[in-house]
Amino acid sequence: MADSKISKFVAFMVVFSLMICSTTMAKSKSSGSKLRVGYYYKTCPQAEMIVRKAVNKAVSKNPGIAAGLIRMHFHDCFVRGCDGSVLLDTVPGKPAAEKDNIANFPSLQGLNSLKVGWIGYDVPSGRRDGRVSLSSEVLQNLPPPFFSAPQLRDNFRTKGLSLDDMVTLSGSHSIGVSHCSSFSSRLSGFNATFDQDPSLNPGFASFLKTRCPAGNSDPVVSNDFQTPNRLDNKYYANLKVQKGLLTSDQTLFDSPLTRKLVVENAKYGFDDSRAEVLSPQTNDQVITSDDE
Ligand code: HEM
Repeated sequence: MADSKISKFVAFMVVFSLMICSTTMAKSKSSGSKLRVGYYYKTCPQAEMIVRKAVNKAVSKNPGIAAGLIRMHFHDCFVRGCDGSVLLDTVPGKPAAEKDNIANFPSLQGLNSLKVGWIGYDVPSGRRDGRVSLSSEVLQNLPPPFFSAPQLRDNFRTKGLSLDDMVTLSGSHSIGVSHCSSFSSRLSGFNATFDQDPSLNPGFASFLKTRCPAGNSDPVVSNDFQTPNRLDNKYYANLKVQKGLLTSDQTLFDSPLTRKLVVENAKYGFDDSRAEVLSPQTNDQVITSDDE
């Protein structure tokens, strides 16, 4: 990923974190004021820089890690807030942890990088680690790839996120990959009327079939076939020509609820000015030292 793309990625993650911090998921009413970039300035002045370097190093060695990290952040934040609970291992004899839920295992990448780099994004710090992690809460909170726009809207709304936020955040599917099993129901045996999902471009469907041959293996396909490693606006352009990979992607253009937002994002894409529009969110309701 080019440097400018990394900085956009970081800007994007700041926005995401700020948005998520303001939602109903979290625990404390007034703890937001405790969070800030530079939280460790006195107690461990190097902390944020060390972590930032570790994340940059991991991403420059393997650009695919960026996609893994961004998705992991999403999966962590939607279940019990951005408290790192997705990183916790299942304790033998106790209920399975988030990490072992089908939405996370084996597809969630970057767990090892995050062990050294969790606060490596430009995220206000000072939040405490969560101590509860339950697989049973994952599917109650994370939207599945077959959701329609109204279902996605309802899910994001419970996290305090608007349709605009949802369409922007979904743009992170501009990078990274999906396993064939995440969209194969669109390629054959779709429903009683159509063997193939009619909202999928037929030429694109044929291409996907070559990438997802029948068999036991479950290969991966780029989320954005045009510019798979760039966080840009091609993800939205793909939706306009029915080349969204997941149902939950394509529905954003097909539904009148979100179509206009997709068209706008296809024009302007990710840029820092857009990030600023979204950033004035509060930081309350996360776990901080007040809660201990
Ligand atoms: C709108 C609802 C969403 C749904 C239904 C959804 C679903 C999925 C699915 C099924 C995959 C592929 C998993 C696999 O097969 O390996 C995926 C990949 C990914 N998702 Fe989402 N997602 C959504 C929103 C988001 C959001 C909000 C973000 C980030 C803020 C995000 C970031 C990513 C990334 C970066 C990847 C690629 C991961 C990699 O290459 O390792 N997604 N998503």
